[in-house]
Amino acid sequence: MKSLVVANWKMNPPSFKEAKRLFAATKKAAESAKHTTVIVAPPAIFLRELSSAYRGKRISFALQNAHSEAGGAYTGEISLAQATDAGAAYVVIGHAERRAAGETNEDTRKKVAAALAMKITPILCVGESSRNHEGAHFALVKEQLRAGLSDVEPSGMKNLVVVYEPLWTIGAEKAMSPRDMHEMAIFIRKSVMELKGGTGMNTKILYGGSINESNVADMLRNGDVHGLLVGRASEDGEKFSALLQAIEHIA
Ligand code: PGA
Repeated sequence: MKSLVVANWKMNPPSFKEAKRLFAATKKAAESAKHTTVIVAPPAIFLRELSSAYRGKRISFALQNAHSEAGGAYTGEISLAQATDAGAAYVVIGHAERRAAGETNEDTRKKVAAALAMKITPILCVGESSRNHEGAHFALVKEQLRAGLSDVEPSGMKNLVVVYEPLWTIGAEKAMSPRDMHEMAIFIRKSVMELKGGTGMNTKILYGGSINESNVADMLRNGDVHGLLVGRASEDGEKFSALLQAIEHIA
């Protein structure tokens, strides 16, 4: 099965000129990565021009966030309809950095439901901001899943991606160990199936947090994940190309 790699550029790069250059490198890297489906999530302001100029098949586009309402007085927000119109097939929902800035489980519930209604695939991010020895993170992740998925029909579960990306591994020096991710992937799979039944089997589970060319293969082999959400290593064409090549070598 192909791996899924979400290239989350976050609030980078600073100019459209650089975004075009990064996209050209990403495109080249994606073309020789036969075992990977790449989803590029650029800053929203660059999305339309990048997607409309792209003629290939290997890359899809995502918005890093969108509002759940169809329109109205929401200054500074972008609707899912506008996202689709600009070329997005996916939307990232509840990224740890957005949760840290105040996004709630209730917000993610509305966004996931609105995205599915618009036929945009939600990429629902879950994960704790820190861990303690009592293992409270499991209950927290379960609650994020329960809330985020509460308006999803069981049949919607095949059009949904869950990313486990704990805040403490994002922008960090080290990724989580594949062994710990394996444990969490089992927990997420079990939770999703408890919540939604057998169709939860089809939901793709990814990992995000400090993934690069050196640790990607181990995570894919041993972490029980279908793919990765990549921040820093996607913001540099050479690093991203090396990461995709590392995936090719294990495939
Ligand atoms: P990072 O970001 O790869 O830069 O750690 C990952 C993420 O946003 O989940």
